[in-house]
Amino acid sequence: MSQTRPAAVVILAAGEGTRMRSSTPKVLHSLAGRTLLGHVVHVARTLHPDQIVTVVGHGRDLVGEHLTEIDPDVITVVQEEQNGTGHAVRIALDALAGVEGTIVVLSGDSPLMTTQTLLALCQAHEGELNSATVLTATVQDPTGYGRVIRAVDGTVESIVEQSDADEGQLRVREVNSGMYAFTAGPLREALNQLTTDNSQGEEYLTDVVALMRSAALRVSAVSAAHPDEILGINDRAQLAHAGEVIRDRRNRELMLSGVTIKDPSTTWIDVNVDVAPEAVLLPDTQLLGATSVGAGAIVGPRVWLLDTEVGEDAHVRDATCELAVIGAQATVGPYTYLRPGTILDRGAKVGGFVEIKNSRVGEGSKVPHLSYVGDAQIGSDTNIGAATVFVNFDGENKHRTIIGDSVRIGSDTMLVAPVTIGDGAYTAAGSVITDDVPAGAMAVARARQRIINGWVQRKRPGSSSAQAAQRAEATGEDTGQTGSDISQS
Ligand code: UD1
Ligand code: CA
Repeated sequence: MSQTRPAAVVILAAGEGTRMRSSTPKVLHSLAGRTLLGHVVHVARTLHPDQIVTVVGHGRDLVGEHLTEIDPDVITVVQEEQNGTGHAVRIALDALAGVEGTIVVLSGDSPLMTTQTLLALCQAHEGELNSATVLTATVQDPTGYGRVIRAVDGTVESIVEQSDADEGQLRVREVNSGMYAFTAGPLREALNQLTTDNSQGEEYLTDVVALMRSAALRVSAVSAAHPDEILGINDRAQLAHAGEVIRDRRNRELMLSGVTIKDPSTTWIDVNVDVAPEAVLLPDTQLLGATSVGAGAIVGPRVWLLDTEVGEDAHVRDATCELAVIGAQATVGPYTYLRPGTILDRGAKVGGFVEIKNSRVGEGSKVPHLSYVGDAQIGSDTNIGAATVFVNFDGENKHRTIIGDSVRIGSDTMLVAPVTIGDGAYTAAGSVITDDVPAGAMAVARARQRIINGWVQRKRPGSSSAQAAQRAEATGEDTGQTGSDISQS
């Protein structure tokens, strides 16, 4: 197959998109980690055109900024008034003066188009020496779309908009996708002849077809590989539907590449996420943004990862993680929250009801239960006891805690930062650590226990506790009643 490269791709994105009922321009709504327009620009780039021109209008500042961000080489032209798709393409061609060859037109609100189908479109266009080649699909319900009227020889005679169609034309189920390949010269000539003589009073790009036919030029059509590819997004229900289509595509691609996905219908993976073969994804899992998952990792059930790296053979379940790095063989969850700047080294373990932010947990170290770790560096082979809190905020500023290798932090320790715990040191359970602990030392920072014998029977007479104490006394159990009244241990 010869590789055809269009001279230019024109993307129409000036429309308002009222049916979204949104203050965000329609083409900036997001779908699987990219905007609608981002998907279209992306597929346009895969054709390697010399130029991409996007026609903007409604929300032009935001749309223009977004384009600069995702692809600064895209040329934007402004359509002040939305006088129709034909008018929009005419303005785009002003920015492409002197350009000859194939011009592909795409719609900024049709994000599901594939490279494969667009290459087939370009190939047919050039191979058949067409002046226009319309990308079509045959759909169950053609409502709202322009109908493709074919001549007996199979070429395309005209495209009739829904609002201008007669009864016979309305029954046609082959519809115009709004995407085309044109030859620059005949396109320019036809655009100059467009009128607004139709039910919507707009310059229809679709009228170019009949104009070319009457100039004895050839217009043909190519069908999309799958009707889903032509879906245009006009409202949020269609946006959700497109989300499902893209999810199914992406999951299928990954499964065929060697990723196990237990429940594809509840597994949502953004387009820029990498999942290595032999990874296992369990139900209710969302992998978003620039997330990556290494080989052999098990992710899920119920995991939400944004911009997070999961290493090989790591295990993450019931977790919410953002901008975190989970090392190889590390385990996370259930019920764990990893916030930006969390780095878990190889084999680290973070368990239930643990929140970590901006901290590094060294190789093989564990934060198994009920802890908050903030602004800390933890060495290797260290254990953080249950319910430890890294007290990093003094009400005004954040401070760091440094913990060495093979440290044992007792349960319910408060580490009041800034503070440093040396290698191999221990802290006693329940301690409030405000001063540095040298290597190998034990730090105890808590009140001593007091025993007040007989307190319950004196202060809570007749209570079930007092009765239990009474019975213990009767069976000769030591209640301390015979010793000193107050003893210390
Ligand atoms: C268009 C086609 C219809 C096709 C359908 C496929 C025409 C007249 N009709 O109808 O045959 O079946 O797409 O989805 O072309 N736009 C501009 N400037 C304008 C008008 C529109 O940039 O002045 C942009 C819109 O933002 C949108 C695209 O062009 O991205 C299509 O416009 P829209 O109004 O949605 O056309 P449809 O009525 O859907
Ligand atoms: Ca549309």
